[in-house]
Amino acid sequence: MAKQLQTLGEFIIENQQAFPYSSGELSRLINSIRLAAKVVNHEVNKAGLVDITGPAGATNVQGEDQQKLDVYAHEKFIQTLTNREIVCGIASEENDDFITIKGSHGDHQNKYVVLMDPLDGSSNIDVNVSVGTIFSVYRRVTPLGTPVQLEDFLQPGHQQVAAGYIVYGTSTMLVYTTGCGVNGFTLNPALGSWYLSHPNMRYPEDGRIYSVNEGNYIHFPQGIKDYIKYCQEEEEDRPYTSRYIGSLVSDFHRNMIKGGIYMYPPSSKAPNGKLRLLYECNPMAFIAEQAGGKASDGKRRVMDIEPTELHQRVPFYCGSKNMVDKVEEFLARY
Ligand code: AHG
Ligand code: MN
Ligand code: MN
Repeated sequence: MAKQLQTLGEFIIENQQAFPYSSGELSRLINSIRLAAKVVNHEVNKAGLVDITGPAGATNVQGEDQQKLDVYAHEKFIQTLTNREIVCGIASEENDDFITIKGSHGDHQNKYVVLMDPLDGSSNIDVNVSVGTIFSVYRRVTPLGTPVQLEDFLQPGHQQVAAGYIVYGTSTMLVYTTGCGVNGFTLNPALGSWYLSHPNMRYPEDGRIYSVNEGNYIHFPQGIKDYIKYCQEEEEDRPYTSRYIGSLVSDFHRNMIKGGIYMYPPSSKAPNGKLRLLYECNPMAFIAEQAGGKASDGKRRVMDIEPTELHQRVPFYCGSKNMVDKVEEFLARY
């Protein structure tokens, strides 16, 4: 008889001891994320129906305004995380400032902060292409019992205690790490349960896929232009294949499974690139490294960058280790 797949709930209980500071709070945090992910998944899946059932800006049956999906996802994750006594603050790509959570006793006793991109790749929603959610978890650095401060959020990526993403794709998956490897769970929508479908995910050391928005080519640094030409040359295992979805989560997910590199270089239009260090790059970097891959800003390890502001952007090269090394080599020539 085929082996019964482990559910995420079972996996969390079994692995609780392996969590850093295993007080059970981090387990509860992951639990609330899996719940919010199901709710958002349900909404993402019926996105096309909004245009049929009523124009955006209309009100739904509860009399609430119908919202854009990224705002909806933002609110669902905030709600779910706020209702449990785990998180003392949340920063989201959808909010200018961070949110302080006092806890139900009003005494600021919760120890974790969460940073997130509630809906990644939102321009793909209208055209039925995969989108995602990215999250990143740190322990607060300011004393328990006081309101969270900006410095609790501005920690370098190597301080993360957990990070993950949800990809709302042909199937919906939750992929996360607590620093002991990367595991992927697939949602069975009929039962509403997540199953461990991708245990111990590993980034292939080499890859043959490059993912970059080549429309920006003429604005890229010369090292990146040269690297793209290198990918296209007729040599040994090259040319490589170009694949770009335009949702970081989906591009990353494919490259981690098949081997490849994702790049968002700086350009003359956007000197720091486009992706956000705290909501996108650090969590993806943590997952990449935990799976044996690499993430760089072209010179430095992404997770060693000292953040200076919440919505900071950095150039991002992430994927199979040997491919990211190669990019750094090309950039170092100039
Ligand atoms: P978001 O939808 O959260 O704003 O993120 C979009 C990001 C990322 O997911 C994607 O890879 C990139 O922006 C695409 O940017 P371009 O359209 O400039 O290529
Ligand atoms: Mn994004
Ligand atoms: Mn987003």
